[in-house]
Amino acid sequence: MSASPDLLLPPLLGVEGRVRLPGSKSISNRVLLLAALSEGETRIENCLASDDTARMMEALTALGINCRTLPAQADAPPAIVITGCGGVLPVRQADLFLGNAGTAFRPLTAVLALAGGHYHLHGTARMHERPIGDLLDALRSLGAQIGCTGNEGYPPLTIAPHQDNGATQVRVRGTVSSQFVSALLIALPLLRRPITLALEGETISRPYIDLTIALARRFGLAIEARADNTFFLPGTHGYRSPGVLHVEGDASSASYFLAAGAIGGGEVRVDGVGADSIQGDVRFAEALANMGARIEVHPHHILARPPENARLRAFDLDLNHIPDAAMTLAVAALFADGPCRLRNIASWRVKETDRLAAMSTELRKLGAQVQEEADALTITPPARLRAAAIDTYDDHRMAMCFSLATLGGVDITIRDPACVNKTFPEYFTAFAAISRPVPVIAIDGPAASGKGTVAAAVAQALGYTHLDSGALYRLVALAAQRQQIAPEDEETLARIARDLPARFAQGRVWLENDDVTDAIRAETISQLASQISAHARVRSALFQRQRDFRTAPGLVAEGRDMGSVIFPDATHKFFLTASVEARAQRRTRQAQAMGFHANIDSLRREIAARDAQDAARAHAPLKHWPDAQLIDTTEMDIDTAVQTVLRAIQAASV
Ligand code: DC
Repeated sequence: MSASPDLLLPPLLGVEGRVRLPGSKSISNRVLLLAALSEGETRIENCLASDDTARMMEALTALGINCRTLPAQADAPPAIVITGCGGVLPVRQADLFLGNAGTAFRPLTAVLALAGGHYHLHGTARMHERPIGDLLDALRSLGAQIGCTGNEGYPPLTIAPHQDNGATQVRVRGTVSSQFVSALLIALPLLRRPITLALEGETISRPYIDLTIALARRFGLAIEARADNTFFLPGTHGYRSPGVLHVEGDASSASYFLAAGAIGGGEVRVDGVGADSIQGDVRFAEALANMGARIEVHPHHILARPPENARLRAFDLDLNHIPDAAMTLAVAALFADGPCRLRNIASWRVKETDRLAAMSTELRKLGAQVQEEADALTITPPARLRAAAIDTYDDHRMAMCFSLATLGGVDITIRDPACVNKTFPEYFTAFAAISRPVPVIAIDGPAASGKGTVAAAVAQALGYTHLDSGALYRLVALAAQRQQIAPEDEETLARIARDLPARFAQGRVWLENDDVTDAIRAETISQLASQISAHARVRSALFQRQRDFRTAPGLVAEGRDMGSVIFPDATHKFFLTASVEARAQRRTRQAQAMGFHANIDSLRREIAARDAQDAARAHAPLKHWPDAQLIDTTEMDIDTAVQTVLRAIQAASV
């Protein structure tokens, strides 16, 4: 599968707002299957629509179950309606592709192993690397006929009708995944006899087992959890539809927004989970409170705010009970006041990717020190985060939790962002809705339009940083001239641009230890800058350097592609222009003020020629961005132009 295009997330001043969560993945996939196995019709509201639930619905449909998606109606929300099969699947032979959906693969394996048909279950390459042997052992002890077509203990699986041996006891190891236990609890009622499931070893992620039991109860089946780590299934009847079932919001998905609220800015309210939730991951809120965040848990919503006048506190926690939300905590650790330790998270190794390795690699890119052990991570936050491009390993949670690093005031690029489709297709839209990006005011215009002076004055008036991007191209031109590099030598020029030892301080421009403020304004450098800035590789070499200027409280970015390529999401965009005549006169006056002779006719010709050259080139031609406000400064002095821009900014923010 090809990766989706990179997503550039801007640095944030903070977050604030309200989020309505999509339905819980864990509940949705359990409920879809339970409804399919039940007697009667079930209407499921707020069911998650994502890759993982799509795989489950496709599989159920292939097994002969009638699943219908109903749009919203005047008196009812959208829903999925499933006609249950009463424990007898209509289709006895099927080939099922289940993607990388663990919540589909494990319970369907158990159900189909006891369903009496011939089935082939397979998934993505990663799914074939995720162990399932403990579940197969338990099912085989009941007489299930399951073969592994690749490696023993791993998918793909071939299933033949089981040869029931009448066992009333089954043992399972829950040390690798609690889903093995949940899968058996869902499937065992198909045997229609009393049976006891006994857990061996320390079972991980216990809250997910409790979730399965709670949902089975909604479908009329009382599973008795006993103190000796056994579960008793009475076996008198199978599942019965509860009629209508509302899926609560996804507590793991809530973790990103709650952490965002805890890290910075204003209050974040998350609707759809709360004290009444049956998902274990709501306890993530406790972990944030333990870091000093101000958290309020209400029955159906949670509020998160940062600590009052303090940083988040470092932590050392056993996170076995919330393995998914714990990933969010690993990124929150970047904002803590000291090293943080996440313990008992060995299950991370067999998830969508080896999450211990992936998390360590990516946190280090941001400047953190990370110590990785077999089942733990120790994360020492850096003094300042670094901008980074984050690889996501086809793991939705990697993509979602690293978006929080933007709260460190840095640019984050998320590679293959569409991997969030697994559980939360709208994640980045929801995150953007609560984000307050560092504002950028982009200003461009032709030579002598006044853009440089206006940009500097606007930056000063607002207390923002000023980026004169033309100066960067001029610096490359000067460095190239000094090193006698030909203007056509794109590769060498791109290298110079990448390693440019440029500094901007107190209105002066430095190349290494040389103050070159005036040197870069020479006419030969203007000409050379215009030539070399046409090279695509020179432009991309300067890309991140320019984006790094976007720091709180804001940036005024001046130059050709500021409002299009570098900061397409700029808060305000202006295009300054003036007639050729007015610009030639300005240049003449400037030259005369500096004691030079100036010929207005030749300046007029030069300006017109430069306009034509800049407008005609292939990369970043001079043009009025379609979403920029046009300001004609022909009849304005500088003060008027500055006031016009400031007024436009003010008008837009009220
Ligand atoms: O704005 P200026 O005259 O200082 O810019 C110098 C040259 O660099 C000019 O030819 C336009 C070019 N430039 C560019 O291609 N992209 C930018 N973002 C800024 C300037």
